[in-house]
Order: sequence, then C-alpha cells, then structure tokens
Amino acid sequence: MIRVLEFDQLDSTNLQARRLWLGGEWESAPFAVVAGEQTGGMGREGRAWHSPPGGLWMTVAWPCQGLDMAARGLALAVGLATRDAIQASTDVDAMIKWPNDLLVRGRKLCGILCQADSALNPPVVFVGIGVNGNLRTDELGRDLRTPATTLRDERGRPVNLASLRDALLVELERRLGVFEAEGLRPMAAEVHAYLAWMGERVIVRNPGTAQDLEGTLLGIDDQGRLLIDSREAVVPIVSGEVRLHS
Ligand code: BTN
Repeated sequence: MIRVLEFDQLDSTNLQARRLWLGGEWESAPFAVVAGEQTGGMGREGRAWHSPPGGLWMTVAWPCQGLDMAARGLALAVGLATRDAIQASTDVDAMIKWPNDLLVRGRKLCGILCQADSALNPPVVFVGIGVNGNLRTDELGRDLRTPATTLRDERGRPVNLASLRDALLVELERRLGVFEAEGLRPMAAEVHAYLAWMGERVIVRNPGTAQDLEGTLLGIDDQGRLLIDSREAVVPIVSGEVRLHS
C-alpha cells in the first residue's frame, strides 16, 4: 500500500508533499501525506479550504515520468476512487460533480486539487483530497460557495477516519495505476454512471474567457470531457466550472 506520513498539523498537505519531494522523499514514491488539521488548506483557483480537526486531509505524491498526468481526466479517476472508498467504508453514496468534487444530495462532501509539476525532477503530480469527515456542517465556515455536507451529518454518527484513509489509499493506488497505463477510458463508464446532474439544465463557465454555456448535461466522453447539449450542438468541454441552472 502507499506509504503514509502523518502529521498533527500542517499548513497544507500539498505543500508538505512538495517540500518532502524536493528533500529527496521521491526516492520512495508514491507516498501520502496526511494531516490532522491544516492551517492553510488550499482549494482550487486560489480559494482557501477550511480544514479543522476531524476531516480527512490528504495528498498523494505520484511520480508521472513521461505521462500526461496533468490531463483533466485524472481528477475524475481520483473522484471515482474516493467515491468508491467512501461508499465501501461508510455506506454514503456520493456523486461526482465534474471535474473535481463529490456531492451528496447536491452538497459538497469532498474537493480534489491535483497539482502536476513536470518541472520538478523527477516530475510528479500532487493529488490533494479533502473529505469532510467527522465534522458538523456548521464547523466548515460561512464563506462557502457551494452548500457543504459532512460524512458525520450524512450518517448521523462518526466515521472511522483511519479505515476510510486506508480504503482510499488502496483505491487510489489501483485507479492511478490504471490511469497511468491507459488513461481514463477503462473507467469512463463508471464515472459516467456516478455523474451528478445528469439530464439537468446547467451553466458551464469557462474560466479563461469567463463565458457561460447553457445546456443539458449529457455525461462525459472517454477522455473525461463534459458533454453539454446546447440545443444547437453537443459541446465537449475540457475545463470549466459547472453550476445548476436556477
Ligand atoms: C476544492 O474543492 O477547491 C479543492 C479542495 C482540496 C482540499 C484538499 S485537503 C488536502 C489537500 N491539501 C490542500 O491544501 N488542499 C487539498
């Protein structure tokens, strides 16, 4: 299983994994960094990720020599692994919100931040995963863009975070291994089956142009691109933020 390095408190597990990588830890990669709490947890697009004690805050450092691990499909493979591990160890059924989040009843349970760095020697992708575990929703802060939930609130009782972490490491090792060899294609049907907001009217914002595309969410293709029926055409989306049409 992927080796685990545990810390009570860190600024960010992604940052610590990077420091360890630069310090020579890459020799025994892949490895996972887990923190009891994060004081500077990082979300996507420069947002902060609130990470008090009780959550599962973890980063896996995965070598990616000669691979396009930065490909968008990677986050979907990670999302699938995380969904399956949560299901197996807590019975909570999460859906994958393309391309980076897990939702339960439309509320965010987990966020994923993949940071690939091909300039490092050897090249690496830092796979950061934050699961709201033994927390109450009101402990997550008030500045959340998306309504959130936690495993504890969904089940009405605490989860065993160590079991969840171990299940997640097993799933990640398996799914990242497949992704490394064959890309998303062998997993695309499973991701599709667990995709949130299928058939719903959504708006996809292109972060580069800040333009919105409105349409019906049809699923993903084999490369992990989101398929939106805009009435004029089926548009494959490579990157963007999806929200439900109100
Ligand atoms: C997002 O939804 O914006 C992504 C959130 C990713 C949070 C995780 S928690 C573990 C790892 N360390 C970080 O600083 N961020 C990721």
